[in-house]
Amino acid sequence: MKLSTKIEKLLNEQISLEFSASSNYLAMASWCEITGYSGAAAFFYAQSTEERDHMLKIIHYVNSLGGKSIIPSNKSPNSNFKNLENLLKTSLKNEQTVTKSIHKIVDVAIKEKDYSTNAFLEWFVNEQIQEETKFETLLQKFDLIGRDKLAINEIDKILQKESQSPE
Ligand code: FEO
Repeated sequence: MKLSTKIEKLLNEQISLEFSASSNYLAMASWCEITGYSGAAAFFYAQSTEERDHMLKIIHYVNSLGGKSIIPSNKSPNSNFKNLENLLKTSLKNEQTVTKSIHKIVDVAIKEKDYSTNAFLEWFVNEQIQEETKFETLLQKFDLIGRDKLAINEIDKILQKESQSPE
């Protein structure tokens, strides 16, 4: 089977979105590293790698079904952040955007009876549930532990642990 033009276009947009996500997390990781949040830096570097892997998954899928992946490039992502909480809030918002985009492609795949793309995207649907839950849980920590320097240090340690736990 071959991908429809519409699905190919949507998947290429998704490749671009995953690439942006990877770049955004890289900028966040770098900011954390400079600021002295070593745990958060490790966490966001790992997130950035994950997003690159998501992008590669889609590139391979498109190419294997007779399509042509468009390799994205983007402008430098925003690298001015207020604080760690703000950074995690931005991350959650970005993940919600990715979720919507995945769901949109699933919708089209179902309408087009493209069972292959629908099955392929199932992994991404589940991944997005995990990602959103992860950021929601991390954001709760600010209410639970606090926002002073000691609390942020604790949250940084939690992020360090999170960066080591396999998906
Ligand atoms: Fe691949 Fe977190 O979106």
